[in-house]
Amino acid sequence: MCMRLAIVLIICIFLGLLSCDEDSTSPTVTSASPLASTFTYSPTLSLQQAAPFPVGLATQSGRIQHTRHTDILERDFNSITAEYEMKQQTIHTFEGQYNWQEPDALVDYADSRGIRVHGHALIWHQSTPSWLETQVETDSAFEAIIQSYIQEVVSRYGNKVASWDVVNEAFDDEGGWRNTIFRQRMGEDYIAKCFQYAHEADSSILLFYNEYGTIWNEGKLAVMMEMVDDLLLRGIPIDGVGLQMHVGYQFPALSLMKRAVDAIVERGLLVHFSEVDIRVNPDGKLTRLTEERAIAQENRLKEIVQLYQDIPADLQYGITFWGLRDNESWVINFWGNPDWPLLYTPDYDAKWAHRGFVEAFD
Ligand code: XIL
Repeated sequence: MCMRLAIVLIICIFLGLLSCDEDSTSPTVTSASPLASTFTYSPTLSLQQAAPFPVGLATQSGRIQHTRHTDILERDFNSITAEYEMKQQTIHTFEGQYNWQEPDALVDYADSRGIRVHGHALIWHQSTPSWLETQVETDSAFEAIIQSYIQEVVSRYGNKVASWDVVNEAFDDEGGWRNTIFRQRMGEDYIAKCFQYAHEADSSILLFYNEYGTIWNEGKLAVMMEMVDDLLLRGIPIDGVGLQMHVGYQFPALSLMKRAVDAIVERGLLVHFSEVDIRVNPDGKLTRLTEERAIAQENRLKEIVQLYQDIPADLQYGITFWGLRDNESWVINFWGNPDWPLLYTPDYDAKWAHRGFVEAFD
């Protein structure tokens, strides 16, 4: 009897290991996550059926190996973004050397299914390879490396990657320019230079500037729009702005989000809600998702999607969710709290937030 119990236990442990998250860098399901399918529903309409604009998902090459992931991806989404595998740290292994394995896997997958790819991100200070930070002697060599990197990547994929975030997060939370390695070595005009390089590589690709915090920080919005206006004035090609939309269930107020949206629309640029997730446990007090927060998240997403619908149709580039299942979200590691910021449970059940998206079109 005892022996049998031990064998069953061993099998359970083994199966448990097998069902581990495929991405070892992702947070695993914690005991605080609702493993049971609470606050879920059975969708009759998918996200892409509900929305007249593209709906995107940040995904990973490891995740598209799994049919439970791709079944939902192909049902709900018609655009993808690499969550991290199309950043410089993954691709640019050394000067003149590139790793295309993971980005190619994502682009080929999308291409074979007619799914749009939004590229993220050519230049981001948080994703610079360490050799680039330490081993490049002169500023002019640094700039030449950045130019050839941007041009290699953009021209490799051509229009299989419809658009790129050219520069990500160039401004700080005090409303100033972030003193990144790009700014230090290429000067304040580095953003314009990067857009120009990308445009020269393939003039048919849409080029975005992407930023967080401009939906609540007036100073940051102002400095970003000043930069955008400068590009427009000088005829530097920029097609749109990404608002990352890492929001909370209460913060920021809709009127603040609207201020940022209006600023972009006024310039006639495309608006991308580029990295949506909705934290429901920002103060860390919850250990489980509650009914009240599930409802709040549903209503919150509904109002965000309604705000998006007020944008003129020709400026709606789409809404991209930053991950599929709650337990896969970057915010859990980033903030160190349990949270349930996305549209699916660890069991791949659609949450009420999914319904909030669909109901925004009623
Ligand atoms: C995060 C990814 O989710 C993580 O997997 C990665 O390790 C670090 O980057 N703003 C951005 C995204 O523009 O690229 C970040 O994505 C989240 C914050």
